[in-house]
This record gives sequence, structure tokens and C-alpha cells, in this order.
Amino acid sequence: MKKNIAILGCGNLGQSIAKGLISDDFNPAYLTLSKRHYQTLDHFKQQGISVTSDNRAAVENSRIIIIAVKPFNFNDVLEDIKSVVTSDHTIVSVATGVTIKEIASQLPNNINVIRAMPNTATDVGESVTAIAYNKNTDNDAVAEAKEIFQKIGITIDIDEELMEAATILGACGIAYVMRFIRAMVQGGIQIGFNAKTASDIVNQTVKGAAALLIEREQHPEFEIDKVTTPRGCTIVGLNEMEHHGFSSSLIRGIVASYQKIEKTE
Ligand SMILES: NC(=O)c1ccc[n+]([C@@H]2O[C@H](COP(=O)([O-])OP(=O)(O)OC[C@H]3O[C@@H](n4cnc5c(N)ncnc54)[C@H](OP(=O)(O)O)[C@@H]3O)[C@@H](O)[C@H]2O)c1
Repeated sequence: MKKNIAILGCGNLGQSIAKGLISDDFNPAYLTLSKRHYQTLDHFKQQGISVTSDNRAAVENSRIIIIAVKPFNFNDVLEDIKSVVTSDHTIVSVATGVTIKEIASQLPNNINVIRAMPNTATDVGESVTAIAYNKNTDNDAVAEAKEIFQKIGITIDIDEELMEAATILGACGIAYVMRFIRAMVQGGIQIGFNAKTASDIVNQTVKGAAALLIEREQHPEFEIDKVTTPRGCTIVGLNEMEHHGFSSSLIRGIVASYQKIEKTE
């Protein structure tokens, strides 16, 4: 059995996955990247990775096929590769909104199809990747797919019906957190720091806060209670934020994004 991996439609996300894979002692010779304008992948070629515009050749040389095109290009790719896909292949789709049923219906029977929803933190090995698959999917295929995404972060199994919710919370979530960080930096500048120092303090504070929750598996409020002295400055600031709809606006934003993704599909 071939162990090789192909990433078809190697744009932003595909390249993030590729970078994450090769930074974690993965042999570049096992990787093939494809996109129509494959000249833009030259920097990968220089690292010993095969680059091509020929999706079929990429599939024939690989066993795990990650499809990372935009949803509107998805059917073109399936049409292109379906004659060379065999039951030895595992198809892993990272495209938003294309269901396992839709993919499987266009391929020969008994192909393992897995959906994965990473975020752009793949680039730095810190993605959370939601993974969905059917009950009849081969366990080894699932394990191999997870292994890929565990090289670039953590994986979480979810039901496929929650894939859109996972897209909002995990993939769009990167943008929500970035906006939160930017606002904190702006606040920091107003109270006296230059932008660089404010960013350094805020970035590490956010990283530290997440690490506290990840390592201790506590509810955020538990950590908040520890830093909110009665009548102190933290609780005054927090309550002021809540009076202006801090939690409410985040929740409403997440729900609005979710309603939008639901309507689009
Ligand atoms: N970016 C994220 O944070 C994120 C997170 C989770 C999931 N996703 C999903 O991942 C998918 C890719 O997103 P992206 O942001 O990486 O998009 P992207 O940068 O546009 O990458 C897609 C690539 O597909 C290539 N392509 C188009 N048609 C092709 C074909 N027939 N054969 C081979 N390659 C083809 C395009 O390059 P050429 O024009 O050179 O062919 C393009 O570079 C989307 O479905 C998105 O919903 C994205």
C-alpha cells in the first residue's frame, strides 16, 4: 500500500497543511501538491516535494488524497480524478459545505471519505481540526487522516451535521480572536504602551490564558474568579465590558456567522 499524500488544490489552506507536515519530520518525497498554476509552488519543489497541475497523476502516486479547493471547484476535481480513484484511496475533504454523501456519490463504491475542518493555525502547528466520517469508514483510514492533522495541531471528532458549526467556531474563530486581540492592543496603547510592547503583552496573555484552560481543563469563570478581587479593577473593567454587550456581541456574532453559512449552503 502506498503511504503517499497528495493535496489537490494547494492554495492557502493546502499550503498551510503542507508546511505543517514537512516541519514535523515528514519526508517531503511522500508529498505531492497540485494546483492549476503550479509554478507558484516552486518553493515546495525546492524542498523535494512533487508539484504538478495533473490531479490524476497526483492521485495515482498517492494513497491519501486531501482535496483543498474552494467548494465551487470541488466537482471539477472529482470529475477529473474519479476514473483513477480506487478502494485503496482515502479522500479527505477540507472544503466547506460539501458533504460526505455528495462526494461518495460521485466516486466508485467503497471509497473512504472523511471531512476535516482545520484552521489557518495549521501554519504554526496549532490548528484544531474537526473530523467527521461515517460509521462504515475504515478505522485505519480515519486513524491515518487524523495522524496528518495531528502533525499540525489537535483533532476533534464531531458528527458531520456539526461541520458548519465547527467551521464557524474553529476556522472563523481565528478572525474573532484576532479582532479581540487587536482591541486589547488598542486599549493597551491608550493606557501608555507602544504598539509593539502592547502586542507582546497581549499575545502572551492570550496564549497563557488558553494554556491555563487547556492544561487545567477548568471553566473560564474559575480562572476569572481568581483575578477578580472584590471592588478591584478587574471586576470593574469586566462589568463595564458586559454593560456594553461584550459576551452578548460575541455570541450574536457567532450565531450570525452560523446563520450565514447555513443560508449559503
Ligand atoms: N482558509 C481557511 O482558513 C480554511 C479553513 C478551513 C477550510 N477551508 C476550506 O478549504 C478550501 C480551500 O480554501 P483556501 O482558502 O485554501 O482557498 P484557495 O487559496 O483559493 O485555494 C484553492 C486552490 O485550488 C486551486 N484549484 C482550483 N481549481 C483547481 C483544480 N481543478 N485542480 C487543482 N487545483 C485547483 C487554486 O489554484 P489554481 O487556480 O492555481 O488552480 C487555488 O489555489 C475551501 O473549500 C475552504 O472552504 C479554508
